Amino acid sequence: MGTESELGAVGVDRRRLGPLESARASRRWWDADADDYHAEHGAFLGTAEFVWCPERLLEQDARLLGSPADLRGARILEVGCGAAMCSRWLAGQGARPVAFDVSAGMLGHARAAASQTGVDVPLVQADAQTMPFADRSFDVAFTAFGAVAFVADSAAVMREVARVLKPGGRWVFAATHPVRWSFPDSPGPDGLTATMPYFDRRPYVEFDADGVPTYVEHHRTLGDRVREIVAAGLVLLDVIEPEWPRELTSTWGQWSPLRGKILPGTAIYVCRLPTA
Ligand SMILES: C[S@@+](CC[C@H](N)C(=O)[O-])C[C@H]1O[C@@H](n2cnc3c(N)ncnc32)[C@H](O)[C@@H]1O
Repeated sequence: MGTESELGAVGVDRRRLGPLESARASRRWWDADADDYHAEHGAFLGTAEFVWCPERLLEQDARLLGSPADLRGARILEVGCGAAMCSRWLAGQGARPVAFDVSAGMLGHARAAASQTGVDVPLVQADAQTMPFADRSFDVAFTAFGAVAFVADSAAVMREVARVLKPGGRWVFAATHPVRWSFPDSPGPDGLTATMPYFDRRPYVEFDADGVPTYVEHHRTLGDRVREIVAAGLVLLDVIEPEWPRELTSTWGQWSPLRGKILPGTAIYVCRLPTA
């Protein structure tokens, strides 16, 4: 599988990318980074736990997808599942999850964890901008930091979710809090000074010696997100900004106790498809 350093990034830029170019870069990045990602974060995420974010909000406490009774027998779609630990937790609650990801490398970790735990959930390789699922086929869709920030057209993800949800279905997605865009990705004190314009929507792009993107991250302001949700015909019920727990001392990339005390790190959007 290799490591992300083998992609040979030589520079960083802000430049517009199309949906296909962006998905290709994400697929290559997550294939290359899959082993390192799980070596670094696997213990925090667990093999059959549902952790929403680096602030360690657990679904078993937050119940953003519904009550235990709602989950039993529910058809649930996990978008950008990585190793699909959240789906395995849901299977343990009696739900019927399907998990998909654009990266074969990440899905390889999902298969390995299925053998390790004995909990098998259906896995699909697909791009969140064009989901290979039937209309009105899921009661719930969700993602914990998957896909949404890595696609050029996140409005298409919202539309696809609205299409595959049954009327009255729920869509809950966690992503980096939009205000973080203005700050350097550092867990230390330099991550506390805003240096980048919040309103600059051009994606962050790392590229190799031939100028080919090796890593891409896209930004939407809070207002952009709300407009994409509403334009897809979904209703926004809540935006959760988990606070950093006093007892949590671990650091996750740019997320740290120091920054967590001062700035929000995660936004979780809770949405519903109207019944009619
Ligand atoms: C930060 S990881 C999160 C994975 C998992 N939810 C977790 O908590 O570990 C982001 C995931 O989004 C996936 N992803 C990126 N772009 C995608 C796309 N266009 N369609 C589907 N998945 C995508 C990546 O392959 C990766 O597994």
